[in-house]
Amino acid sequence: MVATSDEITLKVENLRAYYTSKKGLVKAVNNVSFEVRKGESVGLFGESGAGKTSVALAILGMFDNLSRYYASTAANEENKRLWALKDEALDDKEYKRILGNEITYVPQGTTKSLNPYSNIEEQTAEVLWAHDEDDELEEWQVMKRVLQTLDLVELGDVDIRKDMKPSQFSVGEDQRVLIAIALVSHPDLMIADEPTTAVDMGLQNRILDAIQIVRDELDLSMLLISNNQGTIAKTCDRVGVMTAGHIVEFGDTERVLNSPGHPFTRAFIMSNPSMELIRKIKEKGLRIRGIPGKPPDLSNPPRGCPFSERCDYVQDICREKMPEYREIDKDYWILCHRYEELPEW
Ligand SMILES: Nc1ncnc2c1ncn2[C@@H]1O[C@H](COP(=O)(O)OP(=O)(O)O)[C@@H](O)[C@H]1O
Ligand code: SF4
Ligand SMILES: [Mg+2]
Repeated sequence: MVATSDEITLKVENLRAYYTSKKGLVKAVNNVSFEVRKGESVGLFGESGAGKTSVALAILGMFDNLSRYYASTAANEENKRLWALKDEALDDKEYKRILGNEITYVPQGTTKSLNPYSNIEEQTAEVLWAHDEDDELEEWQVMKRVLQTLDLVELGDVDIRKDMKPSQFSVGEDQRVLIAIALVSHPDLMIADEPTTAVDMGLQNRILDAIQIVRDELDLSMLLISNNQGTIAKTCDRVGVMTAGHIVEFGDTERVLNSPGHPFTRAFIMSNPSMELIRKIKEKGLRIRGIPGKPPDLSNPPRGCPFSERCDYVQDICREKMPEYREIDKDYWILCHRYEELPEW
């Protein structure tokens, strides 16, 4: 089938994910909706604790599978397993096949998820064997694919280094091994959670470049989670900005990062401005101000707008009523009562 940009790889609708804690329910993800189209890279951008990782875990079905996670039955019922892939209803076996085959995950934090006792060729091959339920793959096919994939993430000297264990690599190389493991099954969608946080800028860029090459090669869709503006700008076609368990702005990366419409996005970007933004601040005489105060306690979130406790533009309605998530222009969404009244950027 010919790829069109309208074909949807992942559709997330009214996603909610709650944790249990001593303080009660932690509402980590609230009514989050977005789509990832075929071949597209979508970012989730926002402060630490905003709920980005929880969105990924919920898409991956973790809130059902692990007993320490809890999703209310009401939310499950309403969300029909929280997501729908290609509009099919899925049973558990089908769901498992999709995870690891059609959707793969690069988790946050490297060292924990790689096996220190097994070489990287074996670890990468395991993914293919695990999903080869009908014994269709020959050993040489698996090995060929493994080497190709390790090569694709530019590990270098793959013929020799495939026999090495994770501890013999640098953190950045281990990160690329994780990406290779997520790619070896040629998934439709890769979810990558802060894949470059542990490494320096130069290596970050090389890892992001490697991801870009693979995406082109495999026509891969991606959901990339990051709190780094540069990473999002470099890698994502569209981006959702998250705070306090909500997506508050969603649109073209260029628009969202260069002329953000939501007070949270503006404040978050201001707290770590790019060179381009510093120029604009000078030109337009914008006020430089990061985000005052702390993110809300998600076990007792604000009744109205999730940013109301910290927003410069807050009014009574913001504190009382949750704003509607509105499509302002085609493919451009905002969660704010006062979007139309805000000063231009
Ligand atoms: N296992 C857990 N139990 C209780 N609360 C959690 C757990 N994991 C995360 N949280 C809370 O859920 C919220 C969202 O966390 P997370 O999804 O990790 O955010 P992000 O990835 O954006 O930093 C935070 O308030 C965090 O403290
Ligand atoms: S709804 Fe009100 S408090 Fe929330 S971001 Fe908009 S102006 Fe600020
Ligand atoms: Mg996270």
